[in-house]
Amino acid sequence: MTGLNPNSPYPLGDSEAEHDRLIRQGARLAPYTERFLRQAGVGPNQHVLDLGSGVGEVALVAARLVGPAGEVVGVERDMRSVARARLRAAEAGFHNVRFLPSDVSEVAGNSLFDAVVGRFILMYVEDPPAVLRAACHLVRPGGIVAFQEPSYAPFLLLSSHLPLWSRAVSLVHDALRRSGANTEMGFALYQVFQEARLPPPAMTLEVPLGNDAGFTAWPCDTLRSLWPQVQRHNLSLEGLGDLETLRDRLHAEIAGANAVVPWQGLVGAFSRVPAR
Ligand SMILES: C[S@@+](CC[C@H](N)C(=O)[O-])C[C@H]1O[C@@H](n2cnc3c(N)ncnc32)[C@H](O)[C@@H]1O
Repeated sequence: MTGLNPNSPYPLGDSEAEHDRLIRQGARLAPYTERFLRQAGVGPNQHVLDLGSGVGEVALVAARLVGPAGEVVGVERDMRSVARARLRAAEAGFHNVRFLPSDVSEVAGNSLFDAVVGRFILMYVEDPPAVLRAACHLVRPGGIVAFQEPSYAPFLLLSSHLPLWSRAVSLVHDALRRSGANTEMGFALYQVFQEARLPPPAMTLEVPLGNDAGFTAWPCDTLRSLWPQVQRHNLSLEGLGDLETLRDRLHAEIAGANAVVPWQGLVGAFSRVPAR
């Protein structure tokens, strides 16, 4: 998969609906990300850099972990997301988190962080090892590097027995891939870390499962943001039926099978910056 053009916008856009979707998605993923960051070593009093912070989901999880004596700096190139993230942090009463508008490949600074983290960001950048290498210069020797990125392979495989769910998930997958995102960035992290001159990372894979209405709404929710990409790449809608009723029919298919469905695999990789 070739990378994205560095100047190309985030394929899911910058609409308020996409920001709301990221918040819903973040609420579901927060326990997974919190557990992962703890396992990687993120904890009290640390200074943490969060790359591709979106509307602040990972930064707020990290802000809870580092506590009032720590600090989290989120980096995000979309100004509207930065504004929403700042508002959310203020509303939640966090004084230990800041958001900076910047491309993740251009972050500069004098002070060294204890950790650099990110979720669903390296999948969207053109040169992930270069981004990671540059970010590591902002982390002290021995500091933590911890990223969670997706793997759609288990998601697609474990969805195949439910035709409508499988079809909807495949369309999301195709739209992401056609727009240049790397939907297998998770497993690629093993090489990406080493190409960024980091030790081979410790890795985990978790696949959330569920069947409540919020969970089964995920493909429709995501397709709404991806719609311009579906149209731009002229992707087939065959097998999906009336889009107006797709959300309800997806939920009914899963309820009718008395099944749980998977979500994208969350691959976590963490390592430490070597002595310089
Ligand atoms: C899928 S969202 C993830 C947001 C957040 N990390 C989360 O897990 O909720 C990806 C975010 O990365 C941002 N992004 C993509 N490429 C970027 C770049 N080169 N520099 C800075 N931000 C970028 C997008 O604007 C978007 O907000």
